[in-house]
Amino acid sequence: MSSDEGGTRTPTDDELEGMSQERLARLAGELDDVEVVHNTPKFPIPGTRAEKRAERSVALWFVISAISGLAFVVAFIAWPHEYVAPNQPGYFEYSLYTPVIGFTFGLAVLALGVAVIQYVKKLFPDEVAVQQRHDGASDEVARRTVMAQLADAGRSTTIGRRKLIQRSAGAAAGIFGVGVGVIAIGGLIKNPWAEGDDSPLWHTGWRPENGETVYLRTDTGVLTEIARVRPEDMEPGSMMTVFPFRESERGNEEELLHAQRASDAPVMLIRLRPGTQVETRPGQENFSYGDFYAWSKVCTHLGCPTSLYQAQDNKILCPCHQSQFLATRDAEPVFGPAARPLPQLPITVNSEGYFVARSDFVEPVGPAFWERKKTT
Ligand code: FES
Repeated sequence: MSSDEGGTRTPTDDELEGMSQERLARLAGELDDVEVVHNTPKFPIPGTRAEKRAERSVALWFVISAISGLAFVVAFIAWPHEYVAPNQPGYFEYSLYTPVIGFTFGLAVLALGVAVIQYVKKLFPDEVAVQQRHDGASDEVARRTVMAQLADAGRSTTIGRRKLIQRSAGAAAGIFGVGVGVIAIGGLIKNPWAEGDDSPLWHTGWRPENGETVYLRTDTGVLTEIARVRPEDMEPGSMMTVFPFRESERGNEEELLHAQRASDAPVMLIRLRPGTQVETRPGQENFSYGDFYAWSKVCTHLGCPTSLYQAQDNKILCPCHQSQFLATRDAEPVFGPAARPLPQLPITVNSEGYFVARSDFVEPVGPAFWERKKTT
């Protein structure tokens, strides 16, 4: 037998054994210097019509959340998400893909939140309690009483006898969990290696196909206005973003858009100042054309566009996490989290005087992935 600092008598082990859940919960409050000023159940008489109405309105939100979560999972998997060009059949459905999955997922989260708030506001007892602060680790009595207090709190929230809310909340939380899981593993559903050596991660739109020349074009803002790049288009110390273009794509909006929108397509064409010395990687000595160098614009850290070129010190900067690549060392990273150089596109100038790609990149562009072979 003893008393704690607050003056509450600490019960013996035998006394503890003989205490009911309710008494233990009360004792927990007393030991923690908690004073319950008042505690009034929302519905002192269980089963009234008002209580059932409140219960149904809470359950309704859980049901809305469950249905929205289910709709999200179905839309995420089954809604047409493959690219469809404007004015083509199926474009309308394709254009709704992002809004649909955003709306259903957002509604599932919102309804779940509203349901929990409604439950607390409509069915939890009104309680005001005041607790004094105290320090130090909890002893055995405190631990046991806290557990009892939690159990008592569970009982007083009346969740145990509300089967409708239990089921609807279970459905909402369960389906919401499935939705989160679908987002997490959704990207793994499609096998990126299904096409073997032709799989998209190994190649980009710069790969010449059927012997057709791949030109370097700039984006003029008008998709069908083709501006192929010539050496005289650039000043020394300047940079231009270029995309692949084939004559067979001329006039074909869908193919032009695809070539320009592909995430691995953008390339920085940089004209170094005359006399700038560049250390090239072995085997890539002839990838450049005079002072013109073409590097992938996709950062090797996490794939942001490395859009900034500083002519004064020949650095290429990625604005996302401040990686810096040195153009005079073949775009090797010299600062920041990126660990690999930007892949270089082999270029030359054809007999018409336009820049063309001599081949695809000789290594995958962008961030690393497990199957990527170590090349640098
Ligand atoms: S994506 Fe470029 S530094 Fe992170």
